[in-house]
Amino acid sequence: MHASDPRLILPEPPAALKALSHELRERLLIRQQQQGFLSFAQFMEAALYEPGLGYYSAGLPKFGAQGDFVTAPELGRLFASCLAQQTQAVSRQLTGPWDVLELGAGSGQLAADFLRACTPEHAPQRYRILERSADLRAEQQRRIARCVPDWQDRVEWLDAPPAQDWQGVLLANEVLDALAVEAFAVRPDGLMQRGVHITADALSWTERPAPKALQDALAQRQKRLPAPLAVGYESELCLSLSPWLASVTDTLQHGMALFIDYGYPRASYYHPQRSAGTLVAHYQHRAHFDPFFWPGLQDLTAFVDFTALAEAADDTGLEVAGYCSQAWFLMACGIDQRLQEQAADTPMAQRALAHELRELTLPEAMGEKFQLMALSRGLEEPLPGFELQDLRGEL
Ligand SMILES: C[S@@+](CC[C@H](N)C(=O)[O-])C[C@H]1O[C@@H](n2cnc3c(N)ncnc32)[C@H](O)[C@@H]1O
Repeated sequence: MHASDPRLILPEPPAALKALSHELRERLLIRQQQQGFLSFAQFMEAALYEPGLGYYSAGLPKFGAQGDFVTAPELGRLFASCLAQQTQAVSRQLTGPWDVLELGAGSGQLAADFLRACTPEHAPQRYRILERSADLRAEQQRRIARCVPDWQDRVEWLDAPPAQDWQGVLLANEVLDALAVEAFAVRPDGLMQRGVHITADALSWTERPAPKALQDALAQRQKRLPAPLAVGYESELCLSLSPWLASVTDTLQHGMALFIDYGYPRASYYHPQRSAGTLVAHYQHRAHFDPFFWPGLQDLTAFVDFTALAEAADDTGLEVAGYCSQAWFLMACGIDQRLQEQAADTPMAQRALAHELRELTLPEAMGEKFQLMALSRGLEEPLPGFELQDLRGEL
């Protein structure tokens, strides 16, 4: 997903979609009346996942030209083939059959291109997908059947994280940024939890003194900062990150969990100059900063605090085996060689490949903004994808 210009004018959605958004707002209004306060995390959860009305649950186009954003796997096959390369290196450290578990598989493009990059001898026994959105799951099923029919038998969809022990690789591209976050503000009287005030025709920010769980979580995060956050500072934190990570990795006995997302180590995340937080909304290829624009019709995201991910890994007995930027990871996985392997025999195909390479690796595109963190359990050897850059010292 791409950078933003706050002066953008956002196009009006069609009437039928506005009606969906109004329905969601009415539901949230009732919730606010029942509870007295609607936290931003509750709002974000509903705006993304409210059954039938949330951004990921209402069946609207999200990816590619018709949608709101483009992710790395949607650009072409290079990203998936580099992830397959890294995964196969991990599989060589395992004895016996191994699986891939992909979280939040979007359109299914990464799964299709990952499997396309495998040979039968170096392939997962099962490619399992854990996807919250029912309509995306259906889209993934169609795409796998269309693009890689020979691999279809190995792909399974799960309703919950695997209950049985397994070994292999967990992949999650741009999933952490979609976890609902708490929004907070430091005020002269103390820490406030930010929430959403809803009326029949508008949404706006409101706040109340932060509950203990939020105060404790921020106090914990501030321990690693050079100075306390100043009065006026507003930002986010994800309270559910640690339990969520534990739930998706508990049964992984040997292998790696690879998270790819836009984010920073903590000192940059809560840098004094980032005093307005990290929330970004995506609507029809415009990234902007109004989280209340037509709830349910736009994507809502928050950058990832990679130090928090490393701490959550520690809580759940995983080791931080690598942390680097996307550009360096892809180079270490031999993206130049993967490029040679792609058949680009027309000028148009060559231009498309060059565009893909630029988007994935240039610092002002995804190359530096996106980072990868590998969490491992029971692996002895270092991971080749992290050989060129090691940012763990910045966590
Ligand atoms: C921004 S999209 C990224 C999709 C895809 N990984 C890609 O790179 O194109 C976020 C995806 O995460 C899914 N998602 C969000 N929270 C999830 C969760 N807790 N478990 C599984 N999937 C989740 C969404 O439904 C969606 O498929």
